[in-house]
Amino acid sequence: MEKCCNQCRHSPATPCKDYVNCRVEGPICHDDQKCKEKRREFLKHIVTEPGAERKKVVLCGGLNCGSAGAFSLADVFRDEIEKQGLGDLTTVVLSGCRGFCEQGPSVIIEPDRTFYRWVTREDIPEIVSVHLKEGGVVERLLYQDPQTGLLCRTCDDIPFYQRQMKVVLKHCGFIDPEDISEYIAVGGYRALAQAVNDMKPDGVLEEIKKSGLRGRGGAGFPTGKKWDTARRVPADKRYVICNADEGDPGAFMDRAVLEGNPHSVLEGMLLCAYVVGSDEGYIYVRAEYPLAVRRLRIAIEQAERYGLLGTDILGSGMNFNIKINEGAGAFVCGESTALMSSIEGNRGIPRIKVPRSTEKGLFGKPTVLNNVETFANVPKIVVNGGGWFASVGTERSKGTKIFALSGKVQNTGLVEVPMGITLRDLIFGIGGGIKGGGKFKALQIGGPSGGSLPEDMLDLPIDYESLTGAGAMMGSGSIVVMDDENCMVNMARFFLNFTERESCGKCTPCREGTTRMLEILERITTGNGNLNDIPLLEYLGGVVKTTAFCGLGTSAPNPVLTTLSYFRNEYLRHIRDRRCPAGECLALRQFIIMTDKCSGCGACAFVCPAKAISGEKKKPHQIDLDACIRCGRCYEICKKYKAIKRR
Ligand code: SF4
Ligand code: SF4
Ligand code: FES
Repeated sequence: MEKCCNQCRHSPATPCKDYVNCRVEGPICHDDQKCKEKRREFLKHIVTEPGAERKKVVLCGGLNCGSAGAFSLADVFRDEIEKQGLGDLTTVVLSGCRGFCEQGPSVIIEPDRTFYRWVTREDIPEIVSVHLKEGGVVERLLYQDPQTGLLCRTCDDIPFYQRQMKVVLKHCGFIDPEDISEYIAVGGYRALAQAVNDMKPDGVLEEIKKSGLRGRGGAGFPTGKKWDTARRVPADKRYVICNADEGDPGAFMDRAVLEGNPHSVLEGMLLCAYVVGSDEGYIYVRAEYPLAVRRLRIAIEQAERYGLLGTDILGSGMNFNIKINEGAGAFVCGESTALMSSIEGNRGIPRIKVPRSTEKGLFGKPTVLNNVETFANVPKIVVNGGGWFASVGTERSKGTKIFALSGKVQNTGLVEVPMGITLRDLIFGIGGGIKGGGKFKALQIGGPSGGSLPEDMLDLPIDYESLTGAGAMMGSGSIVVMDDENCMVNMARFFLNFTERESCGKCTPCREGTTRMLEILERITTGNGNLNDIPLLEYLGGVVKTTAFCGLGTSAPNPVLTTLSYFRNEYLRHIRDRRCPAGECLALRQFIIMTDKCSGCGACAFVCPAKAISGEKKKPHQIDLDACIRCGRCYEICKKYKAIKRR
């Protein structure tokens, strides 16, 4: 660990209570100009002041940008910077996801926060010479607002970012998650220092209660109440667990926080441990998140080296260690009791919830289990006060919430918004509306446990109660947007297929109920349904919802029940007319060439795998419906001329 000189005595063996402040404002224990200068020089590499000569190239190293080639760009940048003689004045770091994954690989140049999108290795020499050397801007790589046509120079000018309120994600995409100094430089571990030096555990708990923070994993249980229960139960040992077993299809909020700012989660867990009196914590994270696991391991190792994890933390007498437990990817292991069973080395299946985990959890000891986003909120609450947090949001849902936007929306990615924002603002304001000019049909919120909401519910404010009242749920925060080319029956089948496969099989309603419901949906989407299937689905859905053992089962029917409420007519069309109005169900769709629009280009015949299309060049073509296997390739290729109709 870095010290300014030999007078600095802080180490895990001889902890100094002022260490965190000293790293940024120090040295505190001695007055030495050289040391002060050393600290200032060091900070210049991390936080570049406006107008500073020193620049910082922050390349998005989140998984999405990384898959699009970003990981290899850092070295290309470094080589080019050296080549152009700017090595002493420029730092290059890889950050975590900054949310606008659609535009990746993206690069932010500090201190002016210029945002370059879709950067390739061929663009790098120009960025280095025009921007870093000459102080200009590479305009062709700037984001252009599709509404106004204006070029946006910085992230703060981009509507996608402007309408958000970033608390948890504030530093994701801007700091190097593999360097603890960067987290400390932007205010990290101050909450911990403040808590252990100046506050009693009661005082920290008071702020958490005052904030109104509710668990971000889905159920929305008040965090302060949970911590309070765990600390009151007499015990010789208590555990803190971070649930990072993010399993919803399309959700990557937790992964982004772990990859982009892992120390914020560690600090949140430390504060929880301080409140409840725990000395051991676990992070249960999916093995399918290798980058998150790697960055977490680095963060834990660095925090231990800096004396922020381990024994006698900051000289307070507090001991706390964190272990990582990699899950094998079973969805049910996101359920708290199944997760604990898995950590204990047993099969991950849920157990009955009395006593609750706060009384008898991991290894039979009182345990606090919160998810990644919940813990990442905690340091901000401690530093800014519970009242600050509670001033954002609605009466019963406070603070902000992160959502993963996907599907037919223009701006896919990760967004953080204040609770209470409407679904319309989220989809059309931040999300930029429907991709490709389609018409909004529905959104599925809350993943497979959530529900589908139609257009006339777009003005619903996002909070726990209003979503539950509409039959959906906040869940962990995934939102899939659908347009008029999406079939709602097929969508319900897709999510039920997921939960049916992921059911652990312990209880009959979930195991058998989801299987029977899926069979019915398969019947309907292949044109073999009958009118009795609708009341049967409703009946089975109600039984599973009220009698299944755990949250996976009780929420599994939600996509089916909400689509039956809001899109019943689509079910009737599949059953009565043997037609899929959206043209998505393979067995029920037909493709027809409209002769008045067909130019006879032959592109459809070229891609047709069944050789079902015939016609002379420059003359209207025809489809042999008996030979057609309904794959839709002709429809996709002809989208520009709109000569093929799907029905
Ligand atoms: S509801 Fe489903 S996942 Fe939960 S215990 Fe029953 S079978 Fe397992
Ligand atoms: S849907 Fe597929 S099989 Fe049918 S005509 Fe078009 S390309 Fe050929
Ligand atoms: S991974 Fe780069 S913006 Fe999301």
